[in-house]
Amino acid sequence: MKAAVVIRYGSPDVVKVREAPKPAPAEGEILVRVHASTVSRTDCGELRAHPFFTRFFYGIRRPRRAIFGLDFAGEVEAAGSGIISFSPGDRVFGMCPTRSNGAHAEYVSVPERAVALMPAGMRFDEAVVCEGAFYANAVLKRIGVKPGQEILVYGGSGAIGTAMVQLAKASGAAVTAVVATRHLALVKSLGADRAIDYTAGDFTRIGKTFDSVVDAVGKTSFFRCRKLLKPDGVFAATDLGPWGQNIVLAMWSAITRNHRVVLPAPGRIGGFVGFLKGRMEAGQFRAIIDRQYPLAEIADAYRYVESGQKVGIVVINVAAAGEGERPA
Ligand SMILES: NC(=O)c1ccc[n+]([C@@H]2O[C@H](COP(=O)([O-])OP(=O)(O)OC[C@H]3O[C@@H](n4cnc5c(N)ncnc54)[C@H](OP(=O)(O)O)[C@@H]3O)[C@@H](O)[C@H]2O)c1
Repeated sequence: MKAAVVIRYGSPDVVKVREAPKPAPAEGEILVRVHASTVSRTDCGELRAHPFFTRFFYGIRRPRRAIFGLDFAGEVEAAGSGIISFSPGDRVFGMCPTRSNGAHAEYVSVPERAVALMPAGMRFDEAVVCEGAFYANAVLKRIGVKPGQEILVYGGSGAIGTAMVQLAKASGAAVTAVVATRHLALVKSLGADRAIDYTAGDFTRIGKTFDSVVDAVGKTSFFRCRKLLKPDGVFAATDLGPWGQNIVLAMWSAITRNHRVVLPAPGRIGGFVGFLKGRMEAGQFRAIIDRQYPLAEIADAYRYVESGQKVGIVVINVAAAGEGERPA
């Protein structure tokens, strides 16, 4: 099969599309013929894994796995023993575990818990949405978002931000999203009650306080945002922050039990894909697709995602023909 293979850490230049062995589904796994995947910030982080921190997780000398790609949407090719919920030909989507080969390939074998049937009538490129939503959902669960709460999402235009706005709104929260001018209409269309332009002035001077403020893009800080918090309000982040300070602040908050700053861990995939499917079927969640690249041009997709400018997701079309067509 064709796959984007990574045998050493580095720039997008090290990502090479070449022949790789087709996987076979183990017990409890499903072999998926991949139609679409994404290049995400997680993939970029794995590609350039930091020698002293993240390589303990991803592999010390070289990446532990040769094929990246978290999101997939495609058709079930075969099911391993013990699988009763999926059959060959089913249209499925989901999120690959980070410890085994991913979906930048024509086939991927994934555990059943990471897969769900695609909502009826959905295109493959519309279903590769798990990565951003997974991290957004982890944050919302950690801060315990509830109906009627006020939440400010700083950076509502990326993969996590667009997901956070939609999932927070679906939870019944009142959502304020802070974005650049060009994204104001987008976040309103995703359900934000209020959209604030961070290029037009100091967003912290809006004269309002929130139950939670979430930095969804790693570009602001607790110290900048604390005046936006209610007395028992919480600051959460998806990133270590501009100077890596969020990890120290989160540890300090845990030690002192003031719970003002949290840096949620992503949690487990099991149950999440089905939850997201429910949100999509209820019309509460949709993909925001920025660019699409064929697998052969995946290195260019990495370069674009590394720019930090993408809006929502960047799709990799793995199977060549007819991908844009909606199923009958
Ligand atoms: N916790 C985890 O395990 C985990 C996993 C994945 C990602 N992350 C981190 O989470 C963050 C978000 O990831 P993502 O995939 O959602 O990012 P992304 O899609 O690459 O975010 C890009 C968006 O951020 C906006 N942006 C750039 N600078 C901004 C600023 N100063 N203020 C507000 N918005 C700004 C950009 O639009 P404009 O430039 O037009 O404003 C663009 O639309 C990243 O820092 C990533 O490293 C964490």
